Amino acid sequence: MDARWRIFPDATALAEAAAEAIVAAIEASGDAPAICLTGGSTPRCVYDLLGREPWAARIPWPRVHWFVGDERFVPPSDERSNLGEARRLFLDRCAPKENIHAMRTDVPDVHAAARLYEVEVRNFSAARPAEMLFDLVLLGVGPDGHVASLFPGSAALSKQSRWVVGVDEAALAPFVPRVTLTLTTLSSCRRLLFMAEGAAKAPVLSRIAQGDDLPATRVTSRNGAVWLVDKDAAPPVDALGSRLILVMGVSGSGKTTIGGALAARIGWSFLDADDLHSDANKAKLRASVSLTDGDRAPWLLSIREELARRRSQGADVVIACSALKRRYRDVILPAFARSRIVHLRGDAALIASRLKKRLGHFMPPALLGDQLNILEDPTEDEHALVVDVDGAASTKVDFIAARLRPFIDAGRLESGSS
Ligand code: 6PG
Repeated sequence: MDARWRIFPDATALAEAAAEAIVAAIEASGDAPAICLTGGSTPRCVYDLLGREPWAARIPWPRVHWFVGDERFVPPSDERSNLGEARRLFLDRCAPKENIHAMRTDVPDVHAAARLYEVEVRNFSAARPAEMLFDLVLLGVGPDGHVASLFPGSAALSKQSRWVVGVDEAALAPFVPRVTLTLTTLSSCRRLLFMAEGAAKAPVLSRIAQGDDLPATRVTSRNGAVWLVDKDAAPPVDALGSRLILVMGVSGSGKTTIGGALAARIGWSFLDADDLHSDANKAKLRASVSLTDGDRAPWLLSIREELARRRSQGADVVIACSALKRRYRDVILPAFARSRIVHLRGDAALIASRLKKRLGHFMPPALLGDQLNILEDPTEDEHALVVDVDGAASTKVDFIAARLRPFIDAGRLESGSS
């Protein structure tokens, strides 16, 4: 589900918004709210606020259970201890001890600690039947895009069957072994709240807004993520605006079918570029005469104008367009600050057979060879998702939606929050 971004002028306003979101999640939950806290420095202000008025008075402390997304394998008294810090800032003062679920670090190693915490979390889950394990998961994000202690490329990212795992080597400071909830467990939440502040986080937040595949973009939630960021960390406002997915390929590759179904699946606006061809271009094609760059130039400009119009209305758009040449794509894509390319490509004979069966379209099968000749496959820097034309449309749409999910869920700036 699409994320929402809120930008705050400073760390204090951000912390107050985070405290409000946590308290609101508790107030909206059942009789045993479960909150999963994060480590790092960013949430310290929030933890301090939760132990003070007006927030403390709104929290039903005897009923709320507090967990932690990851822990450094150090004693609780160590300043690097994530839950140790939360306890010092508010939990020990406000929460019943039995409601504070710490990861054990007085055991032989992180794997033993992970097994124990997994038992504790599973027991809590079994005793509190709910669709989601947590009412809210709070996460920070590292400059490399890690969340909790799930670092890019780490084996822990793929351990979907486990709820908690040990991490022998942290990829970023503090370089101590870690214990971390897995993506599956972190994603078992009704609300997912990210916090990030400071210019040092701006590059990774821009990558997240672009839908890069990072641990931070792999965590999901029942109701989508909310990003609370300060102005120094926030991506440029237009990088949190409308998005474009270009479904490209030669005639007969299935652009309109796949593009239309994808748009319907993700709730985006759909544009079939063929609808914008001039009558003169359509007449040429019906006469089996190939279009020249000159013929396509006004068509490409009309596509760009229509995309700009839809963007001005705040729409996210899926466009089906042959976009055979790089320079055609370079006319279309800059209409949006965030775009992705899906290239439907495959066996020419299969495409030709489909064209022969397609009735009433102005593009004749005879011109397929010409289109294949001028087709310029997207280059590596275009980061295109290549999808084979063979197979069922629904399977392709499932594949595209899954592979582009970080981009589709990358979110938009919440109105009035910048
Ligand atoms: C940890 C955290 C980690 C943290 C990010 C951001 O144990 O280090 O759980 O995932 O949230 O590294 O840390 P900062 O808030 O300190 O930037």
